Amino acid sequence: MEFFSLHFLLIFSILLYFYLFFIHSKSSKNTQNGFRNYPLVGSLPDFLRNRHRFLDWTTGVLAGCQSNTATFHRPGKVHGIITASPQIVEHMLKTNFENYPKGIRFRTLLEDFLGRGIFNTDGELWKIQRKTASYEFNTKSLRNFALENVTMELQTRLIPILEKALKNERILDFQDILERFAFDNICKVAFNVDPGCLGGDATSGGEFMQAFEDAATLSSGRFMYAFPGSYKIKKFFNLGSEKTLQKSIVTVHEFADKIIRSRMEEMAKKNDEDLLSRFMGNSEYSAEFLRDIVISFILAGRDTTSSALSWFFWLLSSRTDVEDKILKELENIRRKYGKAIGDTYNFDELREMNYLQAAISEAMRLYPPVPVDTKACKEDDILPDGTFIGKKLVYFIPHICDGKNGKYLGKRLL
Ligand code: HEM
Ligand SMILES: *[C@@H]1O[C@H](CO)[C@@H](O)[C@H](O)[C@H]1NC(C)=O
Repeated sequence: MEFFSLHFLLIFSILLYFYLFFIHSKSSKNTQNGFRNYPLVGSLPDFLRNRHRFLDWTTGVLAGCQSNTATFHRPGKVHGIITASPQIVEHMLKTNFENYPKGIRFRTLLEDFLGRGIFNTDGELWKIQRKTASYEFNTKSLRNFALENVTMELQTRLIPILEKALKNERILDFQDILERFAFDNICKVAFNVDPGCLGGDATSGGEFMQAFEDAATLSSGRFMYAFPGSYKIKKFFNLGSEKTLQKSIVTVHEFADKIIRSRMEEMAKKNDEDLLSRFMGNSEYSAEFLRDIVISFILAGRDTTSSALSWFFWLLSSRTDVEDKILKELENIRRKYGKAIGDTYNFDELREMNYLQAAISEAMRLYPPVPVDTKACKEDDILPDGTFIGKKLVYFIPHICDGKNGKYLGKRLL
């Protein structure tokens, strides 16, 4: 069966190659409404042409569409809609949430990396993780725990590194620094473990961080194949990107297992308040499930915050007017609470930084740290704009954007 489809795939690929070659020479610039659909292959040719710039491409198409929503069809039952409509996003993620699980395709492609972690489950398994996590995030103790851990990371690592670079006039890779910063923070806050990636030695934790990066990139790369299942062939023969992926997953698993093991030994001694302790408190959870939980939380906390901060500082570097206003706001708050430069702030003080919050939100609106979300559709449904969507289709949801010059549709905050 597998070999039959392999054979078929090969012949089909060759035919497709010639077909694509012909339409490629005839293709016009992208001014149409929605995705171009060619006979038999649907939107596959344009997908292949644009998959290296998937976000720019889909954003551009959606900008020209009614309610920023477009449907597409590809061979191999890959069909669905892509939307950037806030109403439709709300419908899928909130109003009719039950009808839009992650779905089997998504879960299968990410299973090697994420297992049954919160980012890769639906139903009961999702619910128990979500409940535990949201409960934890709302407790005062976790907030203080997080604030104290992040403050410590700031004062003993991030700021000294920046000060030293300033003094020696050394150029830093700020994004790399922020990734390490975010990684230390998430491990401390979620697992009460300090990986020390931002510590004195620039290479500490580097192997794991690289492996994690590879595992995330290569796993999501599986969504970019011309034929949805063809990564399985590479995986079966342990070739190329699949070989690298499996290797990086081994490193990621070893790291997560180490966290669990060290925490299990400690558990006997003290009663911790971090997220992982909550999960470990339930003796029904296997070590493997705990490992998956750890991996999903690293994924949730690392790239998101570091990407948001990188873009924020990058934007700020060309907007001295905004920088001045942020500094002015901080100065007022310092004066109000009798603080000096370099002092840290508590939650109430942080809450008064309205302009700073608006600036960070604006940076995330322009450069969303999570630009795509994927859902499946369980039962036939009608979207708020009247679009019909049938069950079992796949839906991608990029954030709200108009694609032209990388600008987004949301209301300007600044
Ligand atoms: C700038 C920072 C962040 C951004 C932009 C961000 C964005 C997102 C987005 C878009 C989702 C998907 C929502 C959905 O599909 O309904 C999500 C889910 C989630 N995020 Fe974040 N996130 C950030 C930071 C964090 C941090 C620091 C954590 C904590 C460790 C975290 C934990 C989670 C969890 C647990 C989920 C739920 C997954 C699920 O229910 O399936 N996120 N986040
Ligand atoms: C995080 O903060 C808490 C509370 O201050 C502290 O007990 C804990 O040791 C810190 N964790 C790490 C890994 O630094």
